[in-house]
Amino acid sequence: MDPESARENITPHTKAVCATNLWGLPAEVDALRNVADEKGVVLIEDCAHAMFLPYKGKYAGTWGHIGIYSFCQGKHMTSGDGGMAVTDDDELADRIRSVTCFGESPPHLATVFRMTEMQAAIGLAQLEKVKGYIEEYQKSYAHLSAALEGCAWIQPRAIKDGCGNSPYIFSFAYRGDEHGIDLDAFKQGLFETGDLWNIGFTQVPAYKYDFFTHPRAYQDKGCPTKGCPYYKGDYEYRDGLCPTAEAILPRLVNTSCMISEENAKGVADGLRRAIEAAEKG
Ligand SMILES: Cc1ncc(COP(=O)(O)O)c(C=O)c1O
Repeated sequence: MDPESARENITPHTKAVCATNLWGLPAEVDALRNVADEKGVVLIEDCAHAMFLPYKGKYAGTWGHIGIYSFCQGKHMTSGDGGMAVTDDDELADRIRSVTCFGESPPHLATVFRMTEMQAAIGLAQLEKVKGYIEEYQKSYAHLSAALEGCAWIQPRAIKDGCGNSPYIFSFAYRGDEHGIDLDAFKQGLFETGDLWNIGFTQVPAYKYDFFTHPRAYQDKGCPTKGCPYYKGDYEYRDGLCPTAEAILPRLVNTSCMISEENAKGVADGLRRAIEAAEKG
């Protein structure tokens, strides 16, 4: 999320900005926090992919007013399901506690966000181990990154100064069309290495899904955005809303980086072979 763009898009109706520390690398959460404070809104950091992720001397998740974590299957650690919110603001902490359980703490009514004692016990045990998992994934990340070295038509994700890396999904952008490298040939090479790769992620940003472009919640009242009687703003999820995301999405090549170092060596070899095959044409 571009902090300047976030600033421009905050309206008098905005309550919070939710920035995702995507796929193991941090967003510019320091600048986003400044924007949030300046505009008087809450910054929520989505850390579902960002456990123990250092950013400029603190962990991601502690720059925002609230950091949220997911423990569903396939995250850095799982408790079966469930999650965690962290904040150093006592008032927000009270509000979060008061909505974890439906109707338990009036005056806040909520859906059920509680996790079971059993999941919490698993989560606490996992919490002891997760730094070790991340260290292993960092070794795996290094093997995958090395496979891209010297390739002029692949754009790796930049890890900027002061940023750590809690590897989650290993992602890079294909720019072969700018170098005469055929995408289909590259895809073919990748798919020959196994069913490990995703090209183009979701293809389009979520706001282009029908659910958002034709909102019909609450018996077709246009909720939550178009003519919704409960929403005071005027918002349209239109093409070109996030031009950078729209341009980069179809180019993304992703694979899980939460794999052992041994596995990563094999995946990196396959990636290298696919690059060489695409270059031969
Ligand atoms: C970035 C991100 N945020 C939030 C979530 C949702 O987590 P949960 O299902 O635990 O609420 C996910 C889950 O896949 C995610 O990837």
